[in-house]
Parts: sequence; C-alpha cells; structure tokens
Amino acid sequence: MKIAVIGTGYVGLVQGTCLAESGNDVVCIDKVEEKIKGLKRGVIPIYEPGLAELVHRNYRDGRLKFSTDLASGIADAEIIFIAVGTPQGDDGGADLSGVFAVGRQVAENLNGPKIIVIKSTVPVGTNAELARRMAEVARAPFDVANNPEFLKEGAALEDFNKPDRVVVGVRREEVAEKLHELYAPFLRTDRPFLVMSPESAEMTKYVANCLLATKISFINEMANLCEAYKADVNDVRRGIGHDQRIGFHFLHPGVGYGGSCFPKDIRAVIHMAQSRGLDPRMMLAVDEVNEAQKQVLVRKVTEHFQGDLAGKTIGVWGLAFKPRTDDIREAPALVLIDALLAQGAQVRAHDPEAIPNVRAIYGDRITFCDRPYGAAEGADALVIATEWNEFRNPDFEVVRRLLRRPVVFDGRNVFEPDRMVEMGFTYYGMGRLVPEPPAAG
Ligand SMILES: NC(=O)c1ccc[n+]([C@@H]2O[C@H](COP(=O)([O-])OP(=O)(O)OC[C@H]3O[C@@H](n4cnc5c(N)ncnc54)[C@H](O)[C@@H]3O)[C@@H](O)[C@H]2O)c1
Repeated sequence: MKIAVIGTGYVGLVQGTCLAESGNDVVCIDKVEEKIKGLKRGVIPIYEPGLAELVHRNYRDGRLKFSTDLASGIADAEIIFIAVGTPQGDDGGADLSGVFAVGRQVAENLNGPKIIVIKSTVPVGTNAELARRMAEVARAPFDVANNPEFLKEGAALEDFNKPDRVVVGVRREEVAEKLHELYAPFLRTDRPFLVMSPESAEMTKYVANCLLATKISFINEMANLCEAYKADVNDVRRGIGHDQRIGFHFLHPGVGYGGSCFPKDIRAVIHMAQSRGLDPRMMLAVDEVNEAQKQVLVRKVTEHFQGDLAGKTIGVWGLAFKPRTDDIREAPALVLIDALLAQGAQVRAHDPEAIPNVRAIYGDRITFCDRPYGAAEGADALVIATEWNEFRNPDFEVVRRLLRRPVVFDGRNVFEPDRMVEMGFTYYGMGRLVPEPPAAG
C-alpha cells in the first residue's frame, strides 16, 4: 500500500519504518527541514533500539522516503497517518493546533479518496472535529479514522511488530477492512484487531495511560508508607503480585513518571472531565502524587547533607525519563538536577543516550561523563535516576573507591540494600528496608 506519515518523531518514524519493512511504500513527512535532511543522510534524530538499521535498509531499498513537502508527499498515498505532537496546552488540555494544521493542509491537497488516520493521542471528539474542518476545504471524498498508538519508547519496534492489540476507531466498515489489511502482517499470532467508534478509540488511549499512571502513583505512595513503617516494598510487591487480580506489571516504585505521554495525557483527561462538569478526583490525585514523588529523592539527598549542598558534588546515573531512550521530556532526573543546582551542588552526570539532549538545556552548568564511573569520580554521593541495564551490576569496589563518600541514593531500586550496606555504602532506596551498618571494629 502507499502510505504517508506526517510527523516524523518517536511515533511517526517508527510507524513509517515498520510499515515500510512490511512491504509498503512509505513517505515520512515532517516540517523540520533539518530532521528530514538528516534522515536522508542516514542520521536518525532519536534513539530507539534497532531503529537506525531498519531506517537505513528501507531507505536504501526505496520503500521509505522522507520529505518536507506535504502536498507531493500525500499525492499517491491511500492512507495518511497524522503523528504530530499533541503537547499540553496552556489550559492543561491537549494542544491540537498541529493536528488541525496538518488536517487542513491535507484537505487542501486532496486529489482523490483517502483515509486520514489520527495516530496522535487526541481528546475525544477530535476525529469528528477534524472531519468537520476538513470537509469545509476538501474537494475529494475522505474518511477520518483513529488508531491510537500504544508503543513504549525503548521497546517501540517490538511493540509495533507484536502489538498486544490494534485499536481502530472508524465510521465505515470498509475503512476498518483497509486498516486490517495494513496491519495484518503484525497480527499473525491471533493478536486482536479491535474495531470501535472513533470516540471509543480516542478514549481507549487515555484510559490506558490513566490506569498505567495510576499504578505508578499507587505503588509510589505505598513505597513511602512502607518506608515510614519499616516494611520493604519489594517484599510487599512479591506479596501482592502473585495475586492474579493484581500481578506484577507496572508496580515498581521510583522517582515518579515522566516522558512525553503520561504527564500530559493525565492532564488532558483532567481537562476533558472538567470541561463536562465532572470532578476527576483520581486523576488529580495521580498527578499530584507524581509531582510530589519527584521531590522525594531531592528531599532524601538534602536531608542526608543536612540541608547543606553548597560545594557538594553529586553524581547522577541516568537522565532519560526511562531506559533505552534518549527522551528527556518531563524526566524526573531533570527535576533533581534543578534542585541540586539551585542548592549550590555540582552535578556530574552520565546517561548512555540522553546526554546531547540534556546538554542542550544545561550547557556547561553540569559536567557530562562518557562513562558511569566518570560521574562517580570525586562525588559526595551517587544518585540512580534511570534504571539503565548497564547500571545494575557495576564494579561496586570501583564505585566505592571513586566516590569521595560511599553514599548511594537509588531512585529506582536497582541495588539490594543488604548487599550495599555490607559493601560499606550508605544506601537509600525507595521504600526499601535498609539494614543498620555493621558495628565498627
Ligand atoms: N512517544 C511515545 O511514546 C508515544 C506513544 C504513544 C502515543 N504518542 C502520541 O503520538 C503523538 C506524537 O508523539 P511523538 O512522541 O512522536 O512526538 P514528537 O514530538 O517526537 O514528534 C512529532 C513530530 O511532528 C512534527 N510536526 C509537528 N507539526 C508538524 C506539521 N505541521 N507538519 C509536519 N510535521 C509536524 C514535529 O516536527 C516532530 O518531528 C503525540 O500525540 C503523542 O502523545 C506518543
């Protein structure tokens, strides 16, 4: 099939590339010229495991093209995906200006019947509104459909190629059939293709994110409670997780959720509810708990140094909002770094992929280190802010030697408290029970 994807970011580039890989002819369109020029030279603007190789191969084989020219990019396409950003607007709701601007351009350039699919996360009613706006301009018939994206950054290719489910929101059965044909190669092992109204599909995406964010805020609150009562949240997790009604997924305490989706999507739902006179008490609480959780690590570090961080050096491992991505949007690590700098501390930071993005914000206000050990060197404490795999089993002897003081704040519970204390570290986890250090002598 001939496909156009408008918006070549984390979602659009993965979508376009995977559809090209399954044999379609795909044009990825973006308004940022630099990005498109770079992609044509083989420069991948984001880090996503396995993506670069796939982009290079499909570009070389001619199935994947890049363009800034929307009019010619969509000319031959049967299906046009809109995957532009829907960031938080000033009123807390989703800013749909990108989606509507693209819709208008598509409508102005329609040269025959096409299916326009909103892939971006959009509030309920956006498909209807887009169709209405496009109809004012378009001179050819078209359908607007919704196809929410559920991929996880860091595992995007896996998620795209083996989705738990594909959801489409359509008004006409023929549109569902066409989309089913497109997704069939990814649904081979009986993965469900779920057809519903655009409104239900739009809502499905938000409800999924609301529940996931709720789980995170829930376990974070319980972790803080565990800590106050000297229970260990890891044991509690084991204790509850075997209950089939509960399970283990998404119940890892940490420094709060970040990223480009949960924070803005939860606020968009709050806005949607309030716009209809409803009081979204749970989502307000989820958001509030999350904001507070980002301060928990800051408080631990500040209290350890008795409020005096001036002149202290703090090593930070992990900057991205989660492992296996370079995305730092709303990353909790940045909240921590801001607080450390504001209190006069120096920061030495390492992340396997996110350093260029963080450098663009902080410049030389923090020291960036190519290797994790570099960030520990001469530091008064080490903070783990993102649980990259390579941080899980370092040479602790080397870490202890490099640190000026063997203090570790483990914001993601990647280390075992008993072992850390045994090795001579002063250890802080998130809701973990930390044994007393062995008596001296
Ligand atoms: N990132 C994720 O993990 C994820 C997962 C599921 C859903 N989503 C949703 O998908 C959408 C896109 O997210 P993203 O993370 O890929 O965003 P992104 O910011 O990485 O990419 C958006 C791209 O759209 C381009 N763009 C914006 N306006 C344009 C226009 N008028 N014409 C052409 N290009 C334009 C931007 O230049 C950018 O390259 C959002 O609605 C988001 O909520 C994201």
